[in-house]
Order: sequence, then structure tokens, then C-alpha cells
Amino acid sequence: MQRILILAAMSGLVAACNVEPAPPPAPKFFADNCASCHGAAGQGDGPAAAVLTPAPPDLSRIAARNGGTFPQVEVMSTIDGYSRAGHGTMPEFGEILMGETMLIDTGGRKLTPTPVRLVELTAYIESLQRP
Ligand code: HEC
Repeated sequence: MQRILILAAMSGLVAACNVEPAPPPAPKFFADNCASCHGAAGQGDGPAAAVLTPAPPDLSRIAARNGGTFPQVEVMSTIDGYSRAGHGTMPEFGEILMGETMLIDTGGRKLTPTPVRLVELTAYIESLQRP
């Protein structure tokens, strides 16, 4: 909970420094764009889940499925649309999450400029993880 509040406060800060219309903070973005398939808490039980093949995965157990580690870079790639050549019904969100960037360690030799809103959304999904 505390983490979500800190995240919300951070998004507010980013929004305050931005001249463009304030991007919605990650929890609202998630509710507006992801919950219909993945469910309000990301548990794979959104209203559209019943009619989708494959079904939207439970986003609150990504770390559990990955040996306890949350694969930040992989999750960001999936949301962005980068890592999904030709599978599933998951839309690409890279374009609407573009904007101000921050440097992220994606495992290469150099840090990768990554949209702040994508990083925040991924941190929000990480905050939803359960065992
Ligand atoms: C139309 C339904 C739909 C919407 C909307 C949707 N997803 Fe998905 N998502 C899926 C499906 C189906 C998959 C399974 C893999 C695929 O189809 O590519 C998936 C896979 C994922 C994965 C990979 C999970 C794993 O176990 O590796 C992540 C992360 C994810 N979605 C996040 C999001 C986020 C964040 C949003 C909103 C910005 C979102 N999704 C919106 C249907 C959806």
C-alpha cells in the first residue's frame, strides 16, 4: 500500500513538471486500459477474459511463475509490444506510453532510455505481486 502511495506521489511529481496534459497515474491507466482483460487487481479475471483465447494471464503472479523474481524488462517489453511478434490478443501500448524517458538497466552494456510512464506502470504491476 505504502508503495502504491509513493508511486502515486511520484507520478504526481512527474505530471507537475510536464507542460503537456498530465498523464494519468499508473493505477488509473491500468484501470482504464488493462483491467477489462486482466481484472481490477490484475488477477486475470476482467470482464473480457471469458471470451479471449488465450485467456489474459494473472499479472499478480508473474514473479511467482518466474521463480520469485519479477522480470521487469520482459514485462516492459510485453506492454510496449516489442516482444510479442504474432501471438495473442494483447494490444500494444508502446505508442500511448511514449513521452519523457528515464534510464533503465535492461541488462545490456548501456542504460536504455525508457518512457517514464511505462516504467511506472510496470512498477505498479510489480506492486500487485502475490505469492
Ligand atoms: C484485450 C485484452 C487485453 C488487454 C486490454 C491487455 N492485455 Fe495484457 N495480455 C492479454 C493476453 C491475452 C495476454 C497473453 C499473451 C498475449 O496474448 O500476448 C497478455 C499478456 C500480458 C502480460 C505478460 C504476462 C506474463 O505472464 O508474462 C503482461 C505483463 C500484460 N499483459 C500487461 C498488460 C497491461 C499492463 C495492460 C494495459 C496497459 C494490458 N496487459 C492490457 C490481454 C490483454
